Amino acid sequence: MEKIRRELAVRAELSKSRRCRVLKTEDTMSIAENVGKSLTASSWIRKMFEEGAKLKARYGAENVYDFTLGNPNVPPPAAFKQALAETAADPAIDHAYMPNTGYPETQAAVAAQVSREQGTDLSETDIIMTCGAAGGLNVILKAILNPGELVVTPAPFFVEYRFYAYNHGGKFATAPVKSEFDLDADALDKAIDKTTKAVIINSPNNPTGAVYPKETLDRLGDLLSEKSAAHNQIIYLIADEPYRKIVYDNMTVPPVFVSYPDSLIVTSYSKDLSLSGERIGFIAVNPAAKYKDDLLAAMGFTNRVLGFVNAPALMQRVVAKTQGQSIDISEYARKRELICGILADCGYEFTKPLGAFYLFPRSPDRKDIECVKILQGERILAVTGRGIGGPGYFRLSFYVNDDTIKNATEGFHKAILETKK
Ligand SMILES: Cc1ncc(COP(=O)(O)O)c(C=O)c1O
Repeated sequence: MEKIRRELAVRAELSKSRRCRVLKTEDTMSIAENVGKSLTASSWIRKMFEEGAKLKARYGAENVYDFTLGNPNVPPPAAFKQALAETAADPAIDHAYMPNTGYPETQAAVAAQVSREQGTDLSETDIIMTCGAAGGLNVILKAILNPGELVVTPAPFFVEYRFYAYNHGGKFATAPVKSEFDLDADALDKAIDKTTKAVIINSPNNPTGAVYPKETLDRLGDLLSEKSAAHNQIIYLIADEPYRKIVYDNMTVPPVFVSYPDSLIVTSYSKDLSLSGERIGFIAVNPAAKYKDDLLAAMGFTNRVLGFVNAPALMQRVVAKTQGQSIDISEYARKRELICGILADCGYEFTKPLGAFYLFPRSPDRKDIECVKILQGERILAVTGRGIGGPGYFRLSFYVNDDTIKNATEGFHKAILETKK
């Protein structure tokens, strides 16, 4: 029985790694050159999964402490389950095509919630329902980017941003953040050039857990206004906010709309309702955006022609009824305390995350690849900072079972001693 269970766990891991397989040179001839390059560039993800799968095969999945995933493992809240059951039982719902931007009643419910969070009045037409935040980011970038235009983001960053920019003929550049992971406006100033069309920010941040304060957003807003005027080209600020509700110590995420008019929010219910597989999210456009109507028309079109057509119908109906709901954040807070306590006792240096569910410690010898290898030797799986624009650090996703965190304690301890040798 145990053998079969292990075999199944290993197969699941291997199927993940196959998805990231890197093709040989002759194979790449049959696929687009830029996709081949992207596959090669992300081969470290494949290696990571392969190493993890090997360890799980050898020691059993329960004896390997996997901190690599950003997949919430709590069930969605009861309100979601109830809304889902009610919706499924409603004889009046149809399953037909709908407006590409979403059901008007869902857009209206989302607009009311975003208006409360942003302190700005949005109408239902300011909302476009999307296939998750990932789908939404692609809808925005396809709508705004001309070939060769630049997307800038602070590093470290969510690794897919680069590929999303490439998807739409864009270029991609990063700007370092400050030591405590706050935005560095001077660094962004240097990274923005005449071809820059968008800056993507992500607060609460994956991987650092930073939440950008209002003063930082205001400073960024001023910078983007200056640069837009100087380049005679609007630079859109895209606030990617799937972790907005996952914050600690009574923190709130400041509203970006009041800091800069040409801004958009893109988000999903993947993390705060634990619905990552359902692919449901939305884009909200700042009512003050200069060319708001053009932008909305363009994104209604790109949502359609990217092949999404519209966001999943059933989930749109459900989330219309669950606005303001979230999973129990105190669970995340408890796990944050647990892992921070263990790592601090071991002597790791890190900035305590203010939001999201990642910890981004400094690798003790500042070589993150070696450090991640040493951790693997202790059967602990982590993500190298180098792969996500944060060399010298590693990422741990702490949304894992408590036992995974507790049982990794000895390994974390041994690994820090080893890296200091
Ligand atoms: C910062 C960030 N943005 C976007 C996404 C994509 O979210 P979704 O799965 O809802 O499309 C993720 C997923 O982990 C993320 O961490």
